[in-house]
Amino acid sequence: MQQALTLLNGLTPTQFMAEYWQKKPLLIRGALPGFKGILTPDELAGLACETEVPSRLIRFDPEHVHEGQGWQVTQGPFDEDDFSALPTRYWTLLVQGVNHILPDAQALLAHFNFIPTARLDDVMVSYAPTGGGVGPHIDSYDVFLLQGAGKRRWSISQQDDLRLIPDAPLRILSHFVSEQEWVLEPGDMLYLPPNVAHWGVAEDDDCMTYSIGFRAPAARELAVEFLDACRQEGLSDELYQDPELEPVSDAAAIDQAMVTRVSAMLQRLAWHPDELGPFLARYFTEPKAYVVFTPNRKLSLTKFTDQMRKSGVTLDLQTQMLHWQGQYFINGEVIEVTDLGGHLNALANQRQLSAPLFESENAKHLLPWLRDMYLLGYLHLNEI
Ligand code: SIN
Ligand code: CO
Repeated sequence: MQQALTLLNGLTPTQFMAEYWQKKPLLIRGALPGFKGILTPDELAGLACETEVPSRLIRFDPEHVHEGQGWQVTQGPFDEDDFSALPTRYWTLLVQGVNHILPDAQALLAHFNFIPTARLDDVMVSYAPTGGGVGPHIDSYDVFLLQGAGKRRWSISQQDDLRLIPDAPLRILSHFVSEQEWVLEPGDMLYLPPNVAHWGVAEDDDCMTYSIGFRAPAARELAVEFLDACRQEGLSDELYQDPELEPVSDAAAIDQAMVTRVSAMLQRLAWHPDELGPFLARYFTEPKAYVVFTPNRKLSLTKFTDQMRKSGVTLDLQTQMLHWQGQYFINGEVIEVTDLGGHLNALANQRQLSAPLFESENAKHLLPWLRDMYLLGYLHLNEI
């Protein structure tokens, strides 16, 4: 609890949620005292050279920041030459999904476990030399901007004017007017709800910011995904019917009667609220497009069980696991075993199961399933 109080400026999670979450920004000095970051700029650049790690380099010309042509975005993977060709200022490197690669980034997320995991997007890490940043913009998610090494000046605004610079390769506000500004130092953190305009500019040459993002999916996105899930699981194949149709003189027209018939058909596409729980569990645990699991080497169930009893298991950093009304889901799929002793719940929340647990009777039935997950690379045996 003490830790949560520092993280949230002396507020309890309940107070933070009631007063700030999804409502207004909060600056927290010394949110994680002593935090200096979990990787160096070189290590971040190393990650950006890997094919399965989504990364972007953003460059701008300080004389032309209000013009679309003043900005340049390149997607990774990069190589050493890309970095050695960079100017000394006015660029930034962004690497997404760092929690899927580094256990320390995953551990950072444990500080935020008072927020449902389903809302978690990822940890993005940025590096920028003096003057670097991504320009003024809004995000469609809640974000905790935690300062690692170096200093960053954040300017924010609750402005309604969300016009963008035309033809820019990224969404930059054309009329940003700063209302509040702070310079964040290592361990400081700024919480922003969605749609608060913000602009972070590096104040020195080793500025690294950790963005812990919580997604707030748009109704449009949920509707498209839900209908797609319904399509896969069998939407009604009732055919369009117009037995009362009369001959028309304007055959090219879509008439009102057709619109009315289709509207009635679509309104019959009803769903039960109970279908939404499993849909959300699948949707929120579905691995992102860039995620690749590496299968573990084959082990017989006996050997797996032996080792499991000695070492326990940990979820792969890329694995996502949620539950709904006693049903568990992992990486977009339902888990076909029952959680007898709360072990699946522990695995979903703590991301690991310790060896002694496997002495209990009601954990044994999980072993064949755990082995399947192990073979897929969704979880790993701990080092003994
Ligand atoms: C950054 O770290 O430079 C960008 C983070 C953000 O504005 O969301
Ligand atoms: Co942002």
